[in-house]
Parts: sequence; C-alpha cells; structure tokens
Amino acid sequence: MGPQTATRPMRLSERADELEHQMMHELNEKIATKSLLFYLGDGKRTTDNGAALQAQNPGKYFLMGHDPRLPKLPDKPTLLDFLKHRFASTSLNHLLQSATLALKAGHGEKVVLACLLHDIAVAGFIRCDHGYWGAQLIEPYVDEEVSWAVRVHQALRFFPDESAGYKYPDAYRKYFGPDYRPEPYIEEEYKRARQHKYYMTARLICVNDVYAFDPNAVVSIDNFVDIIGRNFRQPKEGLGFDSTSSSHMWRTLNWPTRFL
Ligand SMILES: [Fe+2]
Ligand SMILES: [Fe+2]
Repeated sequence: MGPQTATRPMRLSERADELEHQMMHELNEKIATKSLLFYLGDGKRTTDNGAALQAQNPGKYFLMGHDPRLPKLPDKPTLLDFLKHRFASTSLNHLLQSATLALKAGHGEKVVLACLLHDIAVAGFIRCDHGYWGAQLIEPYVDEEVSWAVRVHQALRFFPDESAGYKYPDAYRKYFGPDYRPEPYIEEEYKRARQHKYYMTARLICVNDVYAFDPNAVVSIDNFVDIIGRNFRQPKEGLGFDSTSSSHMWRTLNWPTRFL
C-alpha cells in the first residue's frame, strides 16, 4: 500500500467492509442471515442468497444456532427469559403497566395474565395481526380463556363498549386518521366475539390497555412472577423444545438469524 492510499480517508464501502469483517469476527466466523421478512420491513422483496454470501466470505459457514450479538438464553428457556432477553423493553413496559392496572382494579389472575401477555407479539415477534400471533405463541401454555382474549383484543380494541368503560381510543384517531375503518375480517371477528362467553376478558384487556403508555411509570416483572408461575404452564424442556404447535415460533425468536 503506497503512502497516498495510507493517508486518504476510508471510502464508505471500505468502512462497510471493515464493519462487516468486525461483525463476522464477533460471530465467531459464522455468517448470520436475514429472512425475507426482515427485508420486507425495509420495503425490499429479497432474501439472503446463500451461495453469494458464502462466496463473499470464503471458508466461513452459516450460523445454525445462537447469534452471539444477542443475549444467550438458557438451554431450557422460560417465559421470563424471553421477556427479559428477547422482548423490546418499551413494549414490555407497556405490558407490565397494563397488567399492573388490572391487578389494582382487582381482576382475577386470568385477566391479569391476559393483560400481561396481550401484546406479546408486538413486544417479541411481529406487529401485524399481533393478537393472532400472540395467542398462537401462548396457546399451548395458558387457559383457553387467556389465549382467546389475547387473540380477540386485536378486533375489540377498534369497537367501543361504553358499558364496560371503553371508548374508541383517541390515540387511534391520531395514529390512523379520523376516517380509518378496520378491515371486514376484523369487524366479523368483533361480531363473533360479542356473543362469546369470554367476551368480557378480552374487553378488559382493552380497558386496561389504552392508558398503559406512561413512559415514567415504574413497573417490575417481579410483581408477576407468581401469577406467571401459577397460570403459565412452563414446559420442563424449555420453551421451543417441547414439541407443541408453537415451539417453532419460540425457537425462531431464540435463533432469529439461523440459516435454516
Ligand atoms: Fe394490542
Ligand atoms: Fe396494548
């Protein structure tokens, strides 16, 4: 390398190469890959091309397990491990505030747990249709009243029920505009839910939800450890390793950049 090239500032592409090299090192020489969904989130319809990536990183293998950039979960991870080490902390705060409101209002443990887990998909997986994803994640481990309520709050939150103390949220007018109308499938879900025996559990999620966004609120997961212990059937093999209908979802959350 000549003296001129040694002193000139690094080009952007070179800096990117260096960063990538550094990341690779931190990954113990393994190549982490991103799924289509990560790219769709940036408006790109693409996914990592295995052969091309390996050609750019000769001699390297793909990551097939834990991503060292993330906190390592125990071999038998519990719900608390995922809450503490995978879920977005701001969303976790919202869930804790919501559950705290339900606790203070004197609701039963199923309602409190439903409030604690109602946005588990937003906090830990995906926003779109979060009620459905969240319910699917927890279904094998909680009473059907809890997972049903989590699923259906997706629809109920768009429809007021003044008799239960729930108005259409001002925040939604602000977020989605005054003319926003939910999709027909959401309206159909709402109509079915109104007739259901667990309607009020799902409605109470909404009641304890919209006010639970105080950035200064001090809340702790410690207050809910016992309620989780009594109402969430933690598998002895660990979440992800127990062969239920949602084990693969927990594994994906544990190892989001695994090649296959
Ligand atoms: Fe929600
Ligand atoms: Fe919420």
